[in-house]
Amino acid sequence: MADRPRVFVSRRIPDQGLDQILAECDATVWPDELPPARDQLLSAVEGCDGILTLLTDRVDAELLDRAGPRLKVVSNFAVGYDNIVVSEATDRGVAVGNTPGVLTDTTADLAFALLMAAGRRVVEGDHYVRAGRWRTWGPLLLLGTDISGATLGIVGFGRIGQAMARRASGFGMTVLYHDIARLPKEVTEPLGATYTDLDELFARSDFVSLHTNLTTQTRHLVNVTRLRSMKPTSVLINTSRGPVVDQQALYRALQEGWIMAAGLDVTDPEPMPADDPLLTLENCLVVPHIASASRITRGRMAEIAAANLIAGARGERLRAAVNPEVYDSSPARG
Ligand code: DGY
Repeated sequence: MADRPRVFVSRRIPDQGLDQILAECDATVWPDELPPARDQLLSAVEGCDGILTLLTDRVDAELLDRAGPRLKVVSNFAVGYDNIVVSEATDRGVAVGNTPGVLTDTTADLAFALLMAAGRRVVEGDHYVRAGRWRTWGPLLLLGTDISGATLGIVGFGRIGQAMARRASGFGMTVLYHDIARLPKEVTEPLGATYTDLDELFARSDFVSLHTNLTTQTRHLVNVTRLRSMKPTSVLINTSRGPVVDQQALYRALQEGWIMAAGLDVTDPEPMPADDPLLTLENCLVVPHIASASRITRGRMAEIAAANLIAGARGERLRAAVNPEVYDSSPARG
């Protein structure tokens, strides 16, 4: 059919979304587990009405220009969109979509799992047993940091940060938060969350959990100074974006005992190379960017990303647009 929009989907996504795209569009789906190389991506997007991208696909002026004047939408299969230069898309009248809301609890679940696992040395304990080192019950064996009653500092108090606070209340934790602005009392009081500046948050917290966007302001927000200000028994959790943490500083902090442990779902770069120094440390727990990876949540993300792609490629408004100003500044490309 001639009027079916032409789209490129840069990886297989769950059927809840993919089936919809295949039914409504003339779609090319990248078949491999690994992302297309840059030149493959650039040639795949030529002449498309819409592109469904992943965090691993960089969308910038070069790609938008290669896609050409038919392009109306870039639908990112993620809530974060730091892989996209949104201003370049907006300048060209291209709507950018993301998948907010549906991964909040799943991501907070994993952040809390990392918090507990790193704080109570769960993975280290498992390695200890598997290595045949468990010889007796030991009063000093694998001592960790209590979660119940501890202080949790949350950096970035949006949907996922607030979901962390809800989990923390079940453990009787004191919750501190920091964001670019204080949130209204109606939001913070039911969560028992107190605003602090970043210095106080890092100094007072037993656990610091990062939930901020990656921006020029938040790149290396966790640096030598901040890590040195933390308690030696404290734990750092990152499920936001890898570059928010200066990993060389983190290595020193973990090796020299400035902090007790770290739990990372995100790294810089991704994937983390197998010879990264952090992977030599038992007190650094790393998982491969799986915070939203539950079957239900990835299905919901696929539905939204597909709906954004199909609507945008037809010149209609997206269900979730990160640059709604595109509709004000120019008529939607159609
Ligand atoms: C996102 O959506 O931004 C996560 O990092 C991946 O689910």
